[in-house]
Amino acid sequence: MEKIIIFDTTLRDGEQAPGASLNPQQKLEIAFQLEKLGVDVIEAGFPVASPGDFQAVQDISRKIKKSAVCGLARCLKADITSAAKAVKPAKHPRVHIFLATSKIHLQYKFRKAEDEILKIAKYAARFARLRCADIEFSPEDATRSERQFIYRVIESVIDEGVNTINIPDTVGYSYPQEIYSLITDIRNNVPNIEKAVIAIHCHDDLGLSTANSLSAILAGARQVHCTINGIGERAGNASLEEIVMALKTRKDVFGDFFTRINTREIYRTSRLVSNLTDFVIPPNKAIVGRNAFSHESGIHQDAVLKKRSTYEIMDPHEVGISSSQLVLGKHSGRHAFGDRLKNMGFKLDAKQLNRAFARFKDVADKKKDIYDDDLRIIVEDEIRVIKPAWKLAGFSISSGTNIKPSAKITLDKRGKLLSVESTGDGPVDACFRALDKITHLKAKLEDFRLEAVTSGKDALGHANLKLRIKSIIYSGSGSSTDIIEASILAYLNAVNKYAI
Ligand code: KIV
Ligand code: ZN
Repeated sequence: MEKIIIFDTTLRDGEQAPGASLNPQQKLEIAFQLEKLGVDVIEAGFPVASPGDFQAVQDISRKIKKSAVCGLARCLKADITSAAKAVKPAKHPRVHIFLATSKIHLQYKFRKAEDEILKIAKYAARFARLRCADIEFSPEDATRSERQFIYRVIESVIDEGVNTINIPDTVGYSYPQEIYSLITDIRNNVPNIEKAVIAIHCHDDLGLSTANSLSAILAGARQVHCTINGIGERAGNASLEEIVMALKTRKDVFGDFFTRINTREIYRTSRLVSNLTDFVIPPNKAIVGRNAFSHESGIHQDAVLKKRSTYEIMDPHEVGISSSQLVLGKHSGRHAFGDRLKNMGFKLDAKQLNRAFARFKDVADKKKDIYDDDLRIIVEDEIRVIKPAWKLAGFSISSGTNIKPSAKITLDKRGKLLSVESTGDGPVDACFRALDKITHLKAKLEDFRLEAVTSGKDALGHANLKLRIKSIIYSGSGSSTDIIEASILAYLNAVNKYAI
């Protein structure tokens, strides 16, 4: 059996999704979970991009022991020096350099001729190889590049010691047969290609990223770039969970391949990434969406009870999804609460456990039955922002037929209480306007969603939104049995990310 190397770029390409920004501590938390999941390479960031990114890549390099840690760099000395320095402490450091090779990029982005690009690529590969033993090279926009040109570029960087050649479908333009022939042609036309591993990196602009990645594997790629929940630039990247589960489920096609992924960690990883980026997972998302394993039609339900495989091609337990269980109520004690969280795979320190338990008691006062999904939301809330600049101290609203909706909100800013009133088009709008007044921010609401975490009239409401503050998008989420409070908490969560 041949191994498929899983190269996870959630912390780099995934983090490039607008509003998905993560601080170094959150990145480290995700990196630990990715290591537990069993990814072979963690692309931890783009170190030259900002001091925060450099620090995150360096912290991850210091702490991660099993997975290789990779830093991205353009073919520029400063980028490569920074990436090599950031990954240096890693047990398995890697630098990933990239340079566009398509005519459109050469003409409009660089205004350079092919021979100049070839020289830059060769020089950068040599420069990088002197600073790190493991170098990956990507001819950006490869799928729209002239074949003869990328063969020359690939051959020359391999001559300089590059050991992985990644083929990016940067704009998600390609389709499976095309990717198959591109990889096959590279294998047949680059004389020294045997000295490198071929990787694939697909974007999802046409919804083909998983299909394209699988096609590349069939053609000879042995490393695949992917992200958790498929997050990434624009429509995102190929999703790790889809690729890994396709390889595992379709043994008849992919029986010759294996990955090191512990699939039972998939759901937990997906939730963690969704929670820390505040990116909602669409209910119909393959593998990890809320509806991925639920059956609505009576005919389907009946058949699944008789034989699961009639309508289910995977066992939800294989990806770490357990059916939501009724677990606790308001009389449950701290011990039962802690035990249940441990079984669900959460590791909380004493302070986090105390906060989560207090929050649980608060919710249990208002909601009779607490399910696993409620617990997950409560805990995820508690581990999200450690020291918020703004905390909700209290609120009241007035709304109804023929009443102009209004809200009064009190916030705690590092011990100081500030109250403001505002009217609005509805109670939520009135609250958001009041929050803008207190924080003196002109935040533009770009997206707002509200959903029930579990069923029942007393269900926890989970609000998720995106705010544009000074041209940058911040996402936020919050939950409560009161949906207005959930909305305020989500707004504050986004504002606090700006204020950090
Ligand atoms: O999509 C892309 O081309 C990239 C490169 C940096 C590999 O993300
Ligand atoms: Zn990309």
